[in-house]
Amino acid sequence: MSKKELQVSAIENGTVIDHIAQGQVERVLHILNLSVYEDHIYLGANLDSKKYGKKGIIKVANKFFAPEEINKIALVSPTATIIEIRNYEVVKKENVQIPDEIRGFVKCVNPNCVTNKEEMQTRFAVVDKQEIKLKCHYCEKNTAKANIEFI
Ligand code: CTP
Ligand code: ZN
Repeated sequence: MSKKELQVSAIENGTVIDHIAQGQVERVLHILNLSVYEDHIYLGANLDSKKYGKKGIIKVANKFFAPEEINKIALVSPTATIIEIRNYEVVKKENVQIPDEIRGFVKCVNPNCVTNKEEMQTRFAVVDKQEIKLKCHYCEKNTAKANIEFI
């Protein structure tokens, strides 16, 4: 192991969210609701990455995420890698995927949208996976990456 990797401690069991886009560590913590998580969490920000220049990393002990939670990460950090650790070994590594459709965890930017007036699930088509642009199924307004608010 290089000195760089030793900056953030290894975990015995849990999930490593690696290659988080620069500046997005706090947002990922928020999206995954980790402020109320009680086991160990190790954070690294502004770390050097060969691929991306700078990156963030989050290591969550004894926690394995559902695919829906992982899809949320993809919206703010499409470069992220989700790594499953069991008994100190890497047992699974996958890149997050931006889904074709998003249901239920993003707010529509349009205040007049029916989803902001009534108690109902939001639904968007991901019309641009590069820039991240979500088109509301109900009002057809686009929510751009900078305006994404998570419910
Ligand atoms: N890791 C960890 N605890 C372990 C094993 C690995 O926290 N018990 C972390 C490492 O610090 C690293 C990530 O899981 O951030 C992936 O581990 P590994 O595949 O060994 O690292 P690299 O080969 O550096 O992966 P990559 O080149 O994909 O960044
Ligand atoms: Zn809408």
